[in-house]
Amino acid sequence: MLYSALIKPLLFQLDAETAHYTAFEALPLLTKPFVGAAARASLGVDRAACHAPRLARTVMGLPFANPVGLAAGFDKDARHVEAWDAVGFGHVEVGTLTPMPQPGNPKPRMFRLPPDRALLNRLGFNNGGAEVAALRLQKRPEGLIVGGNIGKNKDTPNERAEDDYLKAFDALADAVDYLTVNVSSPNTPGLRALQDREPLQRLLHTLQERNQRRREPRPLALKLAPDLTDEQLREAAGLAVAAGFAGLIATNTTISRAGLVTPAAAVDALGAGGLSGAPLTARALEITRLLRAELPATVALIGVGGIMSTDDARARLAAGADLIQLYTGFVYEGPALVTQICRAL
Ligand code: FNR
Repeated sequence: MLYSALIKPLLFQLDAETAHYTAFEALPLLTKPFVGAAARASLGVDRAACHAPRLARTVMGLPFANPVGLAAGFDKDARHVEAWDAVGFGHVEVGTLTPMPQPGNPKPRMFRLPPDRALLNRLGFNNGGAEVAALRLQKRPEGLIVGGNIGKNKDTPNERAEDDYLKAFDALADAVDYLTVNVSSPNTPGLRALQDREPLQRLLHTLQERNQRRREPRPLALKLAPDLTDEQLREAAGLAVAAGFAGLIATNTTISRAGLVTPAAAVDALGAGGLSGAPLTARALEITRLLRAELPATVALIGVGGIMSTDDARARLAAGADLIQLYTGFVYEGPALVTQICRAL
């Protein structure tokens, strides 16, 4: 396969963030007439396989062509939604978007751990702001569900976090099909404290109240960290249900460094950040089971974290996820992973 034989070895020569943007800027090629079809075929991408009628499903009241989506963080600024459709994804979650544009943390801030099939990042919500992304989304392919993942700016103290989430919500709500409240990134200082009972309850209710005043309220989802205890996860799920949320997304990256093959000294040298990929698979699967048991059938569960193969995808869906999302698996396996999962389902 072209990706594993040639593209990935070349990309993996570059530092992780440069590789990301190099591949990212090449993506629109996949949508071009003639050239696009050849590029997709040589990458093992078969969009039609992902649009087989048996894969279609309604989740959070929205019509998904298939259950496989691109996780938040890959296309933060909604630059290449046509390409995600061409790759076969049923949905893409853009963001995290904050009300004001911000540069994120100093580089380097994204690393690969190949022996662990993992990534470590501390990007820190680098993004061009929710309004600019919303403008870009005025043009989007039909049939691809787009979610908007929202967060707060780094400089906004937690006491004023609600204002940021409301601003980002207002900027994006018309442009997307569902919105995700991200309180689980480890790379914005203090953000995950918004997962605590009181601030979370307030934030979810405030957003839902604003949402219900819209002529067309959007389904709202809450994205959680894998580092919460089972008890905290149950509590957060209960709060989301009480606030009328349509879905939960589990999980974001982890701050744990347990069980890695990469030597501890090398991992420590990379510094702080959230770990994604294979080291997350087991815990994210466990959390899927836990949350499915907790949630009413009417509330959707989106499984993300360490889905690196068709087997991982099947296991996550069997554990009760209504949809799944990929990030690190896409980096390690290439765009053909989406087609492979669609064919396997
Ligand atoms: C992420 N992720 C992420 N999540 C989010 O809600 N907002 C964001 O801005 C980002 N940014 C981001 C950047 C990078 C480089 C990575 C690797 C990840 C988390 C992502 O959406 C997903 O929840 C985790 O990565 C777990 O899934 P995978 O990567 O194991 O498939």
